[in-house]
Amino acid sequence: MIKKKQLMLVATLATTILVLGCSLLTAQAQSMAVVTASFNDDGSVKQPVGWRKWVFVGAPLTPNALNGGNAPFPEYHNVYVEPSAFDAYEKTGKWPEGTQIAKELTTIYQNNNDDVGSSAEVSGRGFQQGEFSGLELTIKDSKRFPDMAGGWAYFSFGHKPQPYEASAKAFPEESCNACHAANAADDFVFTQFYPVLRAAKGN
Ligand code: HEC
Repeated sequence: MIKKKQLMLVATLATTILVLGCSLLTAQAQSMAVVTASFNDDGSVKQPVGWRKWVFVGAPLTPNALNGGNAPFPEYHNVYVEPSAFDAYEKTGKWPEGTQIAKELTTIYQNNNDDVGSSAEVSGRGFQQGEFSGLELTIKDSKRFPDMAGGWAYFSFGHKPQPYEASAKAFPEESCNACHAANAADDFVFTQFYPVLRAAKGN
């Protein structure tokens, strides 16, 4: 006959296994969760924290010298994807709700630059990064921004040296979304310029 003590032991073991299993499942669900932006009561978004530690995916450059001396953004455009959104993109090939992508500008390094803006460095003549000069952010959140094409909202924390603004309001849809919708390769994001993202998706 099974003793009461043995029964209790079996019950305790079963409970332990159940609890362990549940916490494993919760941990897995949490690791899939996307880290979202923080918003103020007035609907503006707070400056993201630690975007320079996000996944760096590319640095397009449109210098003044190649744009009639007047490029809208004559700096490097350093693009960073929030890591949990990157993970989801890698797994599913789609940008999840909550995705955050930052674009930080840096001026071209100044060192006796020639008339196209290039400088002669130990590695050769060319373009190098100088100083930080602006921060933009895009967020995919179709619940919060139901009227923005694709659910993407676009923000700027200033096109200027640091410190950047602490928060930013979404631009009207016509300022940003249309060009991204028409020209970006994958769901409003210019993956044609980011080999890291194409590789993540397996392209
Ligand atoms: C005329 C077209 C055009 C307009 C308008 C435009 N963008 Fe972009 N955007 C681009 C291109 C091209 C890129 C690819 C990287 C680069 O060259 O900077 C880009 C990239 C970005 C990125 C990095 C993520 C991505 O999609 O590749 C952010 C963030 C961004 N733009 C913000 C903005 C904001 C904010 C506005 C509105 C104020 C805006 N953009 C308007 C063309 C545009």
